[in-house]
Amino acid sequence: MTPLVVGGSAHPQLTQQLAQALGTVVHPMEVEVFPDGERTVFLREAVTGCEVVVVQPTQQPAGEHLLELCLMCDALRRGGARRITAVVPYLAYARQDRRETGREPLGARVVAEILASARIDQLICVDLHSRAVEGCFLEPVSHVSAAPLLAERLKNFTGNSVVVSPDLGGLKRAEAIARPLGIPVAVVHKQRLSGDAVEARGIVGDVKGRHAVLVDDIISTGGTLVAAAQAVIAAGAQPRITVAASHGLFAGPALERLATLPLERVLVTDSVPPPKSTPFPLEVVPLSKALVEALNR
Ligand code: R5P
Repeated sequence: MTPLVVGGSAHPQLTQQLAQALGTVVHPMEVEVFPDGERTVFLREAVTGCEVVVVQPTQQPAGEHLLELCLMCDALRRGGARRITAVVPYLAYARQDRRETGREPLGARVVAEILASARIDQLICVDLHSRAVEGCFLEPVSHVSAAPLLAERLKNFTGNSVVVSPDLGGLKRAEAIARPLGIPVAVVHKQRLSGDAVEARGIVGDVKGRHAVLVDDIISTGGTLVAAAQAVIAAGAQPRITVAASHGLFAGPALERLATLPLERVLVTDSVPPPKSTPFPLEVVPLSKALVEALNR
C-alpha cells in the first residue's frame, strides 16, 4: 500500500518529488507560526490506520525544523497513524557525535532522544556525519549514501584527477567516490580552530599537476573547502577545483568564501533546498529515487 506523504516547511520541493516518485500526492497539512515564534501543524485529512512518510530535513533554523518534525509526528500519532517513517535527509547535530573534552554535550544523542519522544518508527537519513550516529538511536536507521549519485556525475574524470578528502574523518567517503572512478585519493590534515575557521596543516597523497575533486559531507561556512583547496593548489594541483558534497548548507559567509576559489563545478544533493543563486556553477543531484529505494527496502 502506498504510504501517505507529509512534509513540513523545511523542504516542500523534496516532499513533492518524493510523493511523485511514490506515485501519490502530498497529504494536505498546514504549518502555522504564531506571533511569538511558536509553531503548530494541522492535518487537513484523517490519517487513521495509515502508514506515513514525513519529510523534513533539519537545516537552518535547525531547532525550529526539528521541533516542527516532532509536532508533525505527534499530530500523526494522535491522529491514529499506524507507522511513521521520518525522512530526514540532512540531520542537524550529527556532527556532535563524540565528546572531545568531556565538558560538552553529545548533541547527536540529544537529537535521537528528541526524535524518540516523537515516536517515529524508522528514520531515513543521507550521509550522516559518521555511521556512529546510528548508535544514538534505538529506532532502525536507514542510511542512504549519496556517493554513487555523486560518482555518476563525475564519471568523465580521468586518471589525471585526484579525489581529495579535506579531513581525515572524510577519507572513507572520498574513497567511495574515487573507487568507481578509478582515480587516486589524497587527504588534507585539517585542524579546526573554531566553528567557522579551519587550517590545513599538510597533505597526504600526490596532487601535483592533477585536477582535484574535493569531497565532503557538509558545506557549511565553506571554511574547510577553502583551506583544502588552497592547500592542494599550493601543493601543485591544477588551479581549478571541483567539489562534491552531500549537504550544501551554505551557511553564513560560505558563498563569499567559495567565490574566492577557482571552482569549476560544485555538486550537492537536494537534501536541503539549494541557494537561489551562487557565484559558481552549482549542480543539484536529486535524491528522491534513492530515498524511494530506501523506503521500499
Ligand atoms: C567536518 O567534520 C565536516 O565533515 C565538514 O568538513 C564541515 O562540517 C564543513 O564545515 P565548514 O564548511 O563550516 O568548514
